[in-house]
Amino acid sequence: MYTLGVFVLLSFTIFIFKFVYSNFWVPWRIQTHFQKQGITGPRYLPIIGNATDMRRMYMEAQAKTIPLTHDIICRVLPYIHQWSMEYGKMFVYWFGPKPRLTISDPVMIKEILTNTGGPFRKVGFTPVSKLLFGEGLVGLEDEQWVVHRRIANQAFTIDRVKGWLPEITLSVRNVLDKWEEMKEGMEEFEVDVHKQLRLLTADVISRTAFGSNFEEGKRIFNLQEQQMNHFLQAVSSVYIPGYRFLPTKMNRERDRLEKETRASIKALVESEKNRKERENSTNLLSLLLSSYKNQNGEIENLEVDEVVNECKTFYFAGMETTANLLTWALLLLAEHQEWQDRAREEVINVCGQKTPPTADNLTELKLVSIKSQ
Ligand code: HEM
Repeated sequence: MYTLGVFVLLSFTIFIFKFVYSNFWVPWRIQTHFQKQGITGPRYLPIIGNATDMRRMYMEAQAKTIPLTHDIICRVLPYIHQWSMEYGKMFVYWFGPKPRLTISDPVMIKEILTNTGGPFRKVGFTPVSKLLFGEGLVGLEDEQWVVHRRIANQAFTIDRVKGWLPEITLSVRNVLDKWEEMKEGMEEFEVDVHKQLRLLTADVISRTAFGSNFEEGKRIFNLQEQQMNHFLQAVSSVYIPGYRFLPTKMNRERDRLEKETRASIKALVESEKNRKERENSTNLLSLLLSSYKNQNGEIENLEVDEVVNECKTFYFAGMETTANLLTWALLLLAEHQEWQDRAREEVINVCGQKTPPTADNLTELKLVSIKSQ
């Protein structure tokens, strides 16, 4: 009994010590360290850091109507906008007890982004945000990243991407046909372009990633979309270790989605592995399943679980980003009609009025180009 009492007391003391150390002592030391260099920031609150302020500012910014301007920081990162005005372009703020140093000097940014493998590591994911893409390329580092990247690179050669053009044009044609149908007989019609373009990018990624299984791919993406909502909630609130194991409604739902997503992608992986005509497959899944001979002559390939992680990554890394880019481009074209006319004229001249664009056409486009002029 005595021994047990000592053990409990010791564990409790260690816990309290660790808690005070990481939630009070370390933040205090870091703040003092930066203050000495003239770098300040919002006041650290034990355990939660600046999470409450961040969430409040985010909600306030989202509730406002959006003016048509490129000045978007005050909406997408309102706390960075507000604090940079208050504390200058370099400041420290707190994600729970973890500090974030915000910088804006391009030379410093370049140094950090190019100094790979050095002291600047990726921001760690919490176990909840890991569920989304923390275990794929976006979250990996060092040797693991190198192996995954080598294999993923095989899938993203320019010739492979060109080979996906028929699938991409098919998806775009389907959306345009749907818009034509909606327009029929109407003088005016409204469409939520962002929503439609998210469906379009999900369709494109699903076709290029899963080939003939793209309908099942879309169902999986739908599960991930639901998971995304949980993720957004997770990143905007403080991470409390162990909280995710509590059987709350949201935790149970998140676990269910994760299990179902993994099981569904695994089933697609197995079916792809067993497909006879796989040698000629150019879908992402099949390419991720192929192996790579490294410079030492060793064969590298990804485990099924790793392929599942990359499939999840491609969806999150590719869908929202591309849909946002396209939506913004359409918005700007709508605002600057003279550029819309010039862009349309160029596309029709190069690709013709009715025929779908080819890969060669794309290189001929000068105005509608991904290269900046
Ligand atoms: C306009 C569209 C896109 C934008 C603006 C964009 C932006 C970015 C950025 C900024 C990163 C670096 C993230 C970091 O290192 O922290 C990144 C990485 C990545 N993106 Fe994209 N992306 C786009 C489209 C796509 C698409 C379509 C895919 C795949 C289907 C994709 C897959 C990835 C992957 C796998 C990574 C991690 C690469 C690595 O660490 O090796 N992205 N993207």
